[in-house]
Amino acid sequence: MDGTIYLKDYTPYPFDLDQVHLTFRLAPSATRVLARLHLTPKGEGASLHLDGEELKLISLGIDGTALQPADYLLTETGLTVHAAALPEGAFTLETEVEIAPNANTALEGLYMSNGMYCTQCEAEGFRKITFYPDRPDVMARFHVRIEGDLPVLLSNGNAGASGEGWAEWDDPWPKPAYLFALVAGDLVATSGTFTTKSGLEVDLNIWVRPGDEDRCDFALESLKRSMVWDEEAYGREYDLSVFNLVAVDDFNMGAMENKGLNIFNSKLVLASPETATDTDYVRIEAVIGHEYFHNWTGDRITCRDWFQLCLKEGLTVFRDQSFTRDVRLGPVKRIEDAATLRTRQFREDQGPLAHPPRPNHYREINNFYTVTVYEKGAEIVGMLKRLAGDEAYRQALDLYFERHDGQACTIEDWLKVFEDVTGRDLTQFALWYTSAGTPHLKVTDAYADGRYTLTFRQSTPPTPGEPEKAPRHIPIAVGLLDLQGREVLSTQLLEMTEEEQSFSFDVAERPVPSILRDFSAPVVLQREQSPEEQAFLLAHDTDGFNRWEAGRSLAQRTLIAMTKGARPAQGYIDAIGNLLADDTLEPAFTAHCLALPGEDELAQALFAAGETPDPDAIHSARSALSRAIATAHEARLSALYDALEVKGPYSPDAEPAGKRGLRLACLSLLTKLDNGARAKALFDAADNMTESFGALSILIRAGLGDEASETFRARWQDNRLVMDKWFMVQVAACPPEDAVAKAEALSQDQAFDWKNPNRFRSLIGGLTANHAGFHAKDGSGYAFLADWLIKLDPMNPQTAARMSTSFETWRRYDSARQNLIREELTRISQTRGLSRDLSEMSQRLLG
Ligand code: ARG
Ligand code: ZN
Repeated sequence: MDGTIYLKDYTPYPFDLDQVHLTFRLAPSATRVLARLHLTPKGEGASLHLDGEELKLISLGIDGTALQPADYLLTETGLTVHAAALPEGAFTLETEVEIAPNANTALEGLYMSNGMYCTQCEAEGFRKITFYPDRPDVMARFHVRIEGDLPVLLSNGNAGASGEGWAEWDDPWPKPAYLFALVAGDLVATSGTFTTKSGLEVDLNIWVRPGDEDRCDFALESLKRSMVWDEEAYGREYDLSVFNLVAVDDFNMGAMENKGLNIFNSKLVLASPETATDTDYVRIEAVIGHEYFHNWTGDRITCRDWFQLCLKEGLTVFRDQSFTRDVRLGPVKRIEDAATLRTRQFREDQGPLAHPPRPNHYREINNFYTVTVYEKGAEIVGMLKRLAGDEAYRQALDLYFERHDGQACTIEDWLKVFEDVTGRDLTQFALWYTSAGTPHLKVTDAYADGRYTLTFRQSTPPTPGEPEKAPRHIPIAVGLLDLQGREVLSTQLLEMTEEEQSFSFDVAERPVPSILRDFSAPVVLQREQSPEEQAFLLAHDTDGFNRWEAGRSLAQRTLIAMTKGARPAQGYIDAIGNLLADDTLEPAFTAHCLALPGEDELAQALFAAGETPDPDAIHSARSALSRAIATAHEARLSALYDALEVKGPYSPDAEPAGKRGLRLACLSLLTKLDNGARAKALFDAADNMTESFGALSILIRAGLGDEASETFRARWQDNRLVMDKWFMVQVAACPPEDAVAKAEALSQDQAFDWKNPNRFRSLIGGLTANHAGFHAKDGSGYAFLADWLIKLDPMNPQTAARMSTSFETWRRYDSARQNLIREELTRISQTRGLSRDLSEMSQRLLG
């Protein structure tokens, strides 16, 4: 009715499409695309529908004969050839269309970035290239010929014949259109080779614009590590003789797993010590891994329809998280992933955009590339692994690859391999995919006659369209400690399936429980716990995640009390002192423990507790607690700061990066006391971006960053990626009362190229990351965001819609702020000619 698409309406495509021949005659404003589709009807009497948008039809024929206007219907969204005009049996449909890549500002389909041709087809961008059944369950072999006066012409698969101004590519693996890619331009490669376990020689190329080639080594090494890891951890080998990876500056997302031709946002490829931070390095390796792992979980086995998106994304995120843990970060990786899930995905579940990991309806699928589909999807795979055990998990995955290779699958297919391998019934477990919301788990305990009993009660707050929630199957990892901190019960996996359930253990004395170890399920744990017990667990828990978690809860508890006027809790300050004194801990772990919960996270916690968060009070509490920690532990922090200096040439390895991370955390606290002396010295001396940018951020946060900001800008004005960081930090880290004015001033800066998605996200996202700044009482932050969304939408609907999620928390705040945000959302939704993307978002946000 309103263009909503429902999962229940799925029907298979009535034709088989086995081969596709595409010829591209590239020209910036008038590219010609010739397509020959070999189609075979599956039954009788079906008309042929092909998707197509913004295409100028030049010619249309079947088996060499032009079609007459009466034979087909051409609309804004596609082409339908009437059944009567189709021959019996197999036939070849030939089309020629014209498109204008240089006018394509939406960066979907074939577009141009700095003179280079590039594509982005997921989810439904191929229909802007040619008429085609643009749905993931139609899989075909692609043969591509590119004609264009450019030195490098790339497409999927293996290289075929080529000559001056033309090249052919052949992809032997059937694939859906969303995995098609084409790149053409003046590019240079950093190359290497990889030999698979079976002995296949693969050429690896990282393609970038001339001038960027000195920042590609890490990407190439990351790719090799990914290839080795997937062979070892999942038995998956690469399957083409070449793997091309291209970096582009204008890209709506992070990266894309096109078969044999991955395309990346340049910020996820280019790295050198001077220009990339430790965090950038980790992220680059993770995303290179992610896209590479898609070759099996996404490309060889794809999705039947877009409702199944988390089949490939949840699994592939789970795989990239495991990869990063194994090759780089170790156990702290779990802390980072759980923390991200809670701040971002729980936030989504708490607001008007909550949806199941497998949604059952949408208007614009691009709006569903969300933390729920990706990160919660990964948590669900993690739970399946916990429930099955490592060995059965691997068997289930082997079965998945064996049974479904070459197919377009569903979540049901995925769960079935686990049912077949483990003999379990996963009907209740499937609710994790089909139902929205974060379960809350209330825990009480009792001890009598040598028996310790834990009682859990689960309930899930309602989400849009889902007032009632059935109990979930929740894996709860539990360990028990005695009062000396020794484990009396090592980690056990409890399986909760009822609304309320108790589990008992024989133990000689009343133990201290460590519940939801390793964050074994994406739930909110609610337990009355004394600060003393939290401090005990922070000091003694044998589970690293829960140890960090205990400190986190303590911090949250004192911060929340401080928003209501309390003084910093001495117990927490003392616990931090013990932590700083403990030199057996990994620096990266200590750094995570020192990081206070963010302002947005505190607002989320207050709202969940039925209170109304006050952004300014939260900001002040956080700042006051940092000062209190610094004052109490100045000597220790200072000694640590000196001791943690990393000498010698920069390496992004976990060990030095962990030291730098902890050192910057110390610096951030010390800057509360030394008027920026240390931070300025570090900024001046730093020979790497981690420390240079770290010091700059700390100075800006302290209101002392003006001089350093200018120096930094002067040094980096010609480097796009570094300047993105600069734009972001100016607004994200500045004192909240300056944030909107700063954002407004920077939006007038000549270097603010708002049509570049990275630059737009840096500045506009910088403001929304400044919690108290964005939520300025007068509504100026809201108006600023709304103005920019309305301005960007006609150019680039995907990025505009994505950025609108900053409004999703509006119901948390006081009624004055709610009214201000509602007005802005209404203004957006009433804008004439709004894209489907932003119109769906603004309506869902208004709820
Ligand atoms: N499949 C890509 C990835 O996960 C992301 C594509 C995002 N597409 C979109 N329309 N938002 O790596
Ligand atoms: Zn992905």
